[in-house]
Amino acid sequence: MIYRIARNDEVARAVYRLELDGDTSALTAPGQFVNIKVPGCYLRRPISVCDWSDGTMTLIYKVLGEGTKGLAQMEAGASLDLLTGLGNGFSAVPEGVKRPLLVGGGLGVAPLYRLMKALPGARAALGFASAADVFLRDAFEALGEVHIITIDGSAGAKGLVTDLMAALDYDYVFACGPEPMMRAVHALCPRGQFSFEGRMACGFGACMGCSRETNFGSKRVCVDGPVFAGEEIAW
Ligand code: FES
Repeated sequence: MIYRIARNDEVARAVYRLELDGDTSALTAPGQFVNIKVPGCYLRRPISVCDWSDGTMTLIYKVLGEGTKGLAQMEAGASLDLLTGLGNGFSAVPEGVKRPLLVGGGLGVAPLYRLMKALPGARAALGFASAADVFLRDAFEALGEVHIITIDGSAGAKGLVTDLMAALDYDYVFACGPEPMMRAVHALCPRGQFSFEGRMACGFGACMGCSRETNFGSKRVCVDGPVFAGEEIAW
């Protein structure tokens, strides 16, 4: 499906906010992703959806290689070919959960924004490398209680999101971030939903390139995930 770039701005160090105009009807849950065809690149680039409304979606991505470098150079008015509504996304808070906590690290913060919008009263613990890497802080703080931490202490507290968790009470987590963070969060609170950033190719279940072992057999991150229940996860 073809989308028109409405905005493509750097919002933190090498982190861009891409706003696209087009059909968003395939997006049904926070945590889903799109697979973008970047001109000149063979493989599409999977990017999680930060937010959407009727006819507009917002993606947050980081310039990490040639594909995302090319994407960052595209300007408003250009067109992009996307596969949308991919992956399962986060599901509702289970009955009986009283203190859900959203835990995000780095780019993993992006899909939690839409989730926080959908969970009034939820709190978020967000970790970044340093102040230059922090994005969407004001937007999150407009939604509720947000705790920020950076590895070097240049914004918020100093340390890792798991240090923030030690000071907060929670009975369930929604987590997204780099794998070492996810492993540490899962060790503290296996009860929850964990969104993985797997390497992907097709993005819709055909190539098996994103398979990972779980406690219930091999699963594909792109269609069985990217969100997995805590009890599914095998490290
Ligand atoms: Fe092809 Fe998941 S990326 S099966």
